[in-house]
Amino acid sequence: MTAPQIWRTTCACVDQTIALGATLAPLLQPNDVILLVGDLGAGKTHFTKGVASGLGCTGKVTSPTFNIMLEYDGGRLPLYHFDLYRLDDVWQLDDVDYFGLLEDGCVSVVEWGDKFPEALPQSYLELRLTVAYPDAPQGEEPPRTLYLRGYGERGRELARAWAAARPQDWKEEPEKEPHATD
Ligand SMILES: Nc1ncnc2c1ncn2[C@@H]1O[C@H](COP(=O)(O)OP(=O)(O)OP(=O)(O)O)[C@@H](O)[C@H]1O
Ligand SMILES: [Mg+2]
Repeated sequence: MTAPQIWRTTCACVDQTIALGATLAPLLQPNDVILLVGDLGAGKTHFTKGVASGLGCTGKVTSPTFNIMLEYDGGRLPLYHFDLYRLDDVWQLDDVDYFGLLEDGCVSVVEWGDKFPEALPQSYLELRLTVAYPDAPQGEEPPRTLYLRGYGERGRELARAWAAARPQDWKEEPEKEPHATD
């Protein structure tokens, strides 16, 4: 079996994370799903702001932690912004019609998208956000290191297309599977 293709980039500040999100937007097609994985404060919502602005969505992007899903319209494609953090059980995904909405012709970005490993979409782009230096001195905001990987046919195609479109951002991670050691 060939090793999975994984790319890595670094966002030195929050504006870079937003700008990176905007670079994905032109490549997105209806029913594309982006799962955002990373600790509290890793930058998932700010990345989503960039996707929304790149799509041309109107309206302010805020954290959907309490709503579970927020919709942003007015752009090239509507954007569903999920946050699964507050869900306790996988069946609660049905309450919000999670799988129905993922196939509704919009783009979906899902914070805490790996919360239920038994309920991953068939095809998706996974973006893993990590704080580069978690023990940085107090008051200093460390950069974020982001790992990109596609799952399923469309997920892999989208990951490859984004990495190819932004070689200045994405460098292929040849040596090892970073997820296994996270
Ligand atoms: N390079 C960076 N990328 C993203 N956020 C950064 C960066 N540097 C600093 N920050 C700060 O980290 C915080 C990230 O907040 P954000 O709400 O986007 O995280 P989150 O992953 O969505 O958190 P949560 O899990 O609580 O939803 C913001 O305060 C932002 O200003
Ligand atoms: Mg968030």
